Amino acid sequence: MHRIRIKTPQGSSLLFMNRDAKEVTSLLPAEGIFIITDTNVRRYYSDIFPGGEVLETEPGEKTKRLETVGTLCSKLLDAGADRSSFILGFGGGVVCDIAGLVASIYMRGVRHGFVSTTLLSQVDASIGGKTGVNLGEYKNIIGTFRQPEFVLCDHRLLSTLPEEEFLSGIGEMIKHAVIRDRNLFFDISTSIERIDERDPDILAPLIERAVRIKAAVVRHDPEEKGPRRILNFGHTFGHVLETCYGIPHGLAVAEGMLVAAEMSVWTGDMPHSELKMLDGVMDKAGMMQEHELPTNIISLIARDKKSESGMINMVLLRSVGRAITRKMKLADIADFVKYYRDSNRRVNKG
Ligand SMILES: NC(=O)c1ccc[n+]([C@@H]2O[C@H](COP(=O)([O-])OP(=O)(O)OC[C@H]3O[C@@H](n4cnc5c(N)ncnc54)[C@H](O)[C@@H]3O)[C@@H](O)[C@H]2O)c1
Repeated sequence: MHRIRIKTPQGSSLLFMNRDAKEVTSLLPAEGIFIITDTNVRRYYSDIFPGGEVLETEPGEKTKRLETVGTLCSKLLDAGADRSSFILGFGGGVVCDIAGLVASIYMRGVRHGFVSTTLLSQVDASIGGKTGVNLGEYKNIIGTFRQPEFVLCDHRLLSTLPEEEFLSGIGEMIKHAVIRDRNLFFDISTSIERIDERDPDILAPLIERAVRIKAAVVRHDPEEKGPRRILNFGHTFGHVLETCYGIPHGLAVAEGMLVAAEMSVWTGDMPHSELKMLDGVMDKAGMMQEHELPTNIISLIARDKKSESGMINMVLLRSVGRAITRKMKLADIADFVKYYRDSNRRVNKG
């Protein structure tokens, strides 16, 4: 078991890698614990929940909205939660995003931590203190930055994860490698079969390496004023695909990464050979470009959080393992989308 600390001016977070989820009790106060979870996670894991009041939500992205936050705050109030209470988010990225937001605003903020139960939340969503809910079709428009006191990642919990959700997590794991660590990318590439089998000997160290990448980026820029933006690689297109087609976040980001990689070649930032290599590994990992970019994509991108005064902070690649950010005009993105559609090389290639 290893620990990773993320220290920021706003707070500090301790990440426990490869630690038994039952041991979360030792990280919690003796009383005043409120567990936010979803019905699936509760069904599988209520027997290992620590003592405390359980507040349950419906699973899935549709629950990530302000109404859920209001309902949970009402339930907390009814159950007697006060400023000394502790909120434990026990679940995947959706639970962590919601529980983190509730913890950061209920009575102007209470203590909180996570037991992270999906591959995607272990490598990404539970780490780094971003909380959020969607506003209609726009992702994560309402949210805060607040570091959880701890995040506990137990890869044993991943054994019950549906296949598609597991694959979704691999998408975000590959993203961390692609933006920052070429060696991790090659190690993932050569271990795909064992990852698919959820072999703990390979999974635990890869999760930890991916988390270390995210932790290092967050430490430098906890509130995403600059360098942290590289973590959004694949998200400009990915969020649109996620919302339009209702596909799991990590799979949408994986498709978005391939589009952004193609854009990196189009802008002249990355050689085509790198795109080919990325494409090959994504294919091998079971992630293919399956969805068309919707016709209203530019208006959707214009209202994305990454848009500032008509410019979009695009994350592109110089090579696999090295991401850069580039401010682009919406008109340029529209030109690229036209080129991408016209070339029509990648969609449904599987
Ligand atoms: N805050 C951030 O920095 C950040 C980063 C990346 C993604 N996200 C957000 O994370 C969300 C996606 O998270 P996710 O992929 O974990 O989805 P999720 O939380 O919806 O979980 C996926 C599904 O798996 C079920 N599940 C969870 N753990 C399980 C387990 N151990 N066994 C069986 N089933 C289990 C859930 O009930 C759900 O049906 C998106 O909303 C995305 O925007 C946030």
